[in-house]
Amino acid sequence: MTVAYLPDSRCFVLSGAASSYAFAHTEDGGLRHLHWGGAIPPDDLPALGERGPHDPASFGSAPRAYSEEIVAWGGRRFDEATLVAEFADGTRGVELAYAGHEIRDNTLRVRLTDAYYPLDVVLGYRIHPEHDVVVRWLEITNRSAADPVVLDQAFSASWSLPAERPYRASWLHGAWGAETHLTRRELAPGKLVLESRTGTTGHAHQPWLALDSGAVEEHGEVWSLALAYSGSWKLTTQVAHDGAVHVTGGLNDFDFRYRLGPGQTLTTPEFAGLYATAGFGDASRRWHAYQRAHVLADPRLPRPVLFNSWEATAFDVSHRAQLALAKQAAQLGVELFVVDDGWFGARDSDKAGLGDWTPNPDKFPQGLAAFADDIHALGMKFGLWVEPEMVNPDSDLYRAHPDWIYHFPHRTRTPARNQHVLNLARPDVRDWMHATLDGLLRSAPIDYLKWDMNRSISEPGGAEPGTNVWIEHVRNLYRVLDRLREDHPGVLIESCSGGGGRADMGILRRTHQVWTSDNTDALDRLRIQEGYSQLYPAQTMSCWVTDVPNFLTSRAIPLRFRFHTAMCGVLGIGGDLTEWSDEELREAAGYVELYKRIRPTVQFGSVHRLASPSEDDVSAVGYSGDREVVVFAFARSMRTGERRRAIRFPGLDPAAVYSDVDTGERHSGALLAHRGLYLRLEGDYASSVTVLRRS
Ligand code: DGJ
Repeated sequence: MTVAYLPDSRCFVLSGAASSYAFAHTEDGGLRHLHWGGAIPPDDLPALGERGPHDPASFGSAPRAYSEEIVAWGGRRFDEATLVAEFADGTRGVELAYAGHEIRDNTLRVRLTDAYYPLDVVLGYRIHPEHDVVVRWLEITNRSAADPVVLDQAFSASWSLPAERPYRASWLHGAWGAETHLTRRELAPGKLVLESRTGTTGHAHQPWLALDSGAVEEHGEVWSLALAYSGSWKLTTQVAHDGAVHVTGGLNDFDFRYRLGPGQTLTTPEFAGLYATAGFGDASRRWHAYQRAHVLADPRLPRPVLFNSWEATAFDVSHRAQLALAKQAAQLGVELFVVDDGWFGARDSDKAGLGDWTPNPDKFPQGLAAFADDIHALGMKFGLWVEPEMVNPDSDLYRAHPDWIYHFPHRTRTPARNQHVLNLARPDVRDWMHATLDGLLRSAPIDYLKWDMNRSISEPGGAEPGTNVWIEHVRNLYRVLDRLREDHPGVLIESCSGGGGRADMGILRRTHQVWTSDNTDALDRLRIQEGYSQLYPAQTMSCWVTDVPNFLTSRAIPLRFRFHTAMCGVLGIGGDLTEWSDEELREAAGYVELYKRIRPTVQFGSVHRLASPSEDDVSAVGYSGDREVVVFAFARSMRTGERRRAIRFPGLDPAAVYSDVDTGERHSGALLAHRGLYLRLEGDYASSVTVLRRS
């Protein structure tokens, strides 16, 4: 049984293949955490409750808040709270007690009620035993017929880790052009706060965290946590004086004050916890498998090789020039041609046009459908860039609806990139957005949308009183995406926010891939991709080969290295193909052909980070599928005496034989794990791809 209730001990046990999660409801109505970690026989679990942390002083929390499954602020609780509420009469503080539960399939819902006020809280748990993932959330219901409740904090869950170990945290930090950089640090008493206040997932941090106590890439226990949410979020890891570690996360409590009207329920975003036994690599592979099974849009659909016009033409878009690029792209074997920014309204620069989503007649005199037909005639799918949540003041939309942007009266409307954020918390803006995009998709045979968002939300005002703009924006974004996907099921969608500013498991439920970063420098990319792969699978990681010198770094990396780097995810090309030499075009066509052959292994296989680009000049990443193994290796520069490097590939079948499809060399899985592949990486920016077939 994956979810069990043991009535004698009032204990709930969620059992994964390699893990147990357990808690009990106590005599006084509380929910006491017992265990999250390696599998323990259910009968041994109730006893764990007798040995909870004990604080004899009168200063700390009592009950010690963090042995609780939900820390509902009230009474003597001073640790990070899960829930903080204020009732209509001014009472602040919640007193919850167990009131029942239901178990259905793999889902447990435990209901708590307040001792006096009509407030119900359901703690949701869903276990995915094959991945050792527990998904948690809260459903908070105001049962009053007359009075609102104001929630000051409503996180999705507070997690407890086995106590008394020195933990280390891994997280992803970054900025525009430098997303998902992996960092590892020992935790010390105090708090580690990761968050976004931007209204989006953000570039600064990913809503993800891994905790370990001595794990490495292929060994050791890892507890990992990730939120499925695309708005402002927060993860707080608290280490107490005695070493107890707790992670609380969900909707950011900054500027929160959520008004829960009479009869209303707030369901918080899903917060997933994963337990892995074999290191950071195992944790990533479990996350990827979980997302393929339960999160991703169309997980078995091969993501096409695309061309994107942005770095080649920027705003200088026209039917004629785009078609010239498209002809070259088609010859390279590209499967999807995407016209980026600049095709609509008065969009000749970033100063005008956002909001006016009709093709510019000077740029597309025969209309968009005719251009799409031309692309289809070349044997490619047709894609288009949009940025629906934005408006330039210099646009027909803004002139017609200046009140449609987030703003406060008597306050500056702060522009960024000459644009403002549309107030998507308004139902009329949501309906306009849906109708506009639906109309666009019906106006021409469009197979793909790149959905961009190029600034953060500021001045979050202008919605109906009582509306939480931060949350309503995300809800309506999801609603529009869900409706569009339902009505246009064949359309692929890429999530973009100035690169990887909106990558999370909430958006990946509704979109097929993410534009990983505006930084297309292949060397920087290796590090960004290493970070991205901690949580998200390669089939969602959009990567382009662009021109050199790179516009951000001025580095001129060889075409081969650029292709090999981009082939580690969803391959795309973003260079100005009309400027590429015949030799470069021939070489590129070869990479595209190879990529299509290995695509099932890269996009659907298991990732193995074999050598980290953050730690060494030489890095490698491998993908293993049913019958094939692909290894990409990269060397920024080599020193004399270091020309040959063994890359070990643990985790393959030790008894199986793997043959190199180019050289015919045969290696056992055991040899690949223990001695490794000797790869020739000579000179600067050397790279290789090795394809092994299992016989
Ligand atoms: C930001 C994106 O990340 C780029 O790829 C490009 O689409 C530009 N916006 C267009 O304005």
